[in-house]
Amino acid sequence: MANKGVLLKELFTNIHKTGAVTFSSPALVKKMVSYADLKGAKTIVEFGGGDGSITSGIYANMDPDAELFVFEINKSFCENLSKDFPYSNVKIICDSAENLDHYLQDKKASYIFSSLPLTLIHRTSREKIYQRSSRSLDEKGKFIQICYSYFLKFHFRRYFKQVRTIFTLKNFPPIFIMICN
Ligand SMILES: C[S@@+](CC[C@H](N)C(=O)[O-])C[C@H]1O[C@@H](n2cnc3c(N)ncnc32)[C@H](O)[C@@H]1O
Repeated sequence: MANKGVLLKELFTNIHKTGAVTFSSPALVKKMVSYADLKGAKTIVEFGGGDGSITSGIYANMDPDAELFVFEINKSFCENLSKDFPYSNVKIICDSAENLDHYLQDKKASYIFSSLPLTLIHRTSREKIYQRSSRSLDEKGKFIQICYSYFLKFHFRRYFKQVRTIFTLKNFPPIFIMICN
């Protein structure tokens, strides 16, 4: 596992693309994953793997025969994720979340967990991410996003029928969890 300080430096140096000065706290990861019932979920997606904090929370709770697709555009984070999750059912994809369709092919996801800095992503790519995520979920599937901006709720409403918002202090800075289906 890479030194956390090295990963934090990478996060901070690329703040215009990562959108954060620190990684998600274990308490936030626990809370985020608690909104998913991973038992029986066969295809799971994560957007913005980063240091693997959310990846670990998902991996610890998913079925052994489930597949996890982790999208991350930062090469150093991808290399580190590949070392930390050397499992055949965890696919570390060093590509943008907007190319989700290409990797899932005909599979439908039960859950998409996202920590993407959506407000920093160009509108065209962001809209593709929303559209392709809603299309790639199965009937009961959920898109679970952590974000600092409440206003993202109005973006999600255009692509999902329901958006539930939870504000949590279990992170610094405090954050919203939005559950869309
Ligand atoms: C706020 S960090 C979250 C990292 C970690 N998952 C956490 O919760 O602490 C957001 C991550 O999304 C990645 N990212 C940004 N745009 C992306 C995109 N279009 N596709 C995939 N990953 C992206 C960044 O490189 C960064 O690692």
